[in-house]
Amino acid sequence: MTQGLFITFEGIDGAGKSSHVQALADALRGRGRVVTVTREPGGTPLAEQLRSLVLNDAMDPLTEALLMFAARRDHLLRVIEPALARGEVVLCDRFTDATFAYQGHGRGFDRQVLATLECWVQGVPGLPAGTLRQPDLTLWFDLAPEVAAGRLAAARAPDKFESQPVEFFRRVAAGYADRMAEQPARFARIAADQARDAVWSDVLAALRQRGWLA
Ligand code: TYD
Repeated sequence: MTQGLFITFEGIDGAGKSSHVQALADALRGRGRVVTVTREPGGTPLAEQLRSLVLNDAMDPLTEALLMFAARRDHLLRVIEPALARGEVVLCDRFTDATFAYQGHGRGFDRQVLATLECWVQGVPGLPAGTLRQPDLTLWFDLAPEVAAGRLAAARAPDKFESQPVEFFRRVAAGYADRMAEQPARFARIAADQARDAVWSDVLAALRQRGWLA
């Protein structure tokens, strides 16, 4: 059977990752892969309910982190793990790196606590003891916070995170850089300040390099 593949898309709000999720799904389907496209927080009925709470209601940072990981646990068990077990490609718009970047670096919440939650939530049944479900590849769309803010202002009414000041997104971006430094093999940094076609070429190149796209 074809091996399952778990690919996540990350970056600050306004970095432009989301349109590439669908484009990559189409490209992989065109090559015969079965693709599940999903997002966090969300991806199941329960997790989508948590999403609307966490993106709109004020709450303390621990509550926020717990809700992100609660949504993630439900999503992993109901959607991500079954799809990987069927040998599908799972494309997920955000995952745990977002929690480290937004709740950890952005909000300043204790990253040791986040690491503990990560272990609890991503130690899923079926994996060898002591191993966690992690993405096979994380595409990090890296864009200067000032540029991203300009794009967002033109786009839509902001949610709780999108309305944060540029300084918040500087910390979030530093959080992504940190995660990449800790786990470099899992990450591909995509320069998101290029024209869309160039960004897309870099996305394809990251998959080709790993032998996942003929
Ligand atoms: P986003 O992908 O930006 O959704 P949309 O493009 O539909 O607005 O994700 C929603 C927000 O949730 C985004 O601002 C980042 C935030 N977020 C966290 O703070 N922590 C997390 O763990 C995740 C997954 C998302």
